[in-house]
Amino acid sequence: MKEFQHPIKFVEIEDRSSLNDREKELLTKAEMARDKAYAPYSKFLVGASVLLENNAIITGNNQENAAYPSGICAERVAVWKAMSEFPELAIQAVFIVAKSLNYNIAEPIPPCGSCRQTLLEYEFRQKKPMSIYFAGETGKIIKVESVNHLLPFAFNQDYL
Ligand code: THU
Repeated sequence: MKEFQHPIKFVEIEDRSSLNDREKELLTKAEMARDKAYAPYSKFLVGASVLLENNAIITGNNQENAAYPSGICAERVAVWKAMSEFPELAIQAVFIVAKSLNYNIAEPIPPCGSCRQTLLEYEFRQKKPMSIYFAGETGKIIKVESVNHLLPFAFNQDYL
């Protein structure tokens, strides 16, 4: 039997004012999308912005449903919106930001497992890493430089 370590790499951005202009725009657009989320059940609003290789930014937010499992996360709305319209363009980055109507979220909110799997699909397809940022309403932001760092041991198309 052998024991292995599988380290992941991430960056913590403590100070939002240290973001560069492109990152600030991604954050602002994700926040604007978040504030239009349809989340009457969870009161947990999430917005995502997707930066494409031509520098266009596509946004999305979570959409809930009275039949709870029929709702969908913000990241998947944004990425599917982007990929359905511009399938030929690689994704450079995705910025995810959350807010609760019940409490102040002061820590980064990581993407759920299904969203990680979805993001990985497109990273595989474009054969280039994409950066993922995630944030709460306030506080630090976490950045990873590839979806691989969010989903070690991922299932992928090579197995099919
Ligand atoms: N949600 C997202 O939009 N993204 C995630 O990665 C985690 C959860 C949404 C789904 C649901 O509308 C609400 O947050 C509470 O789970």
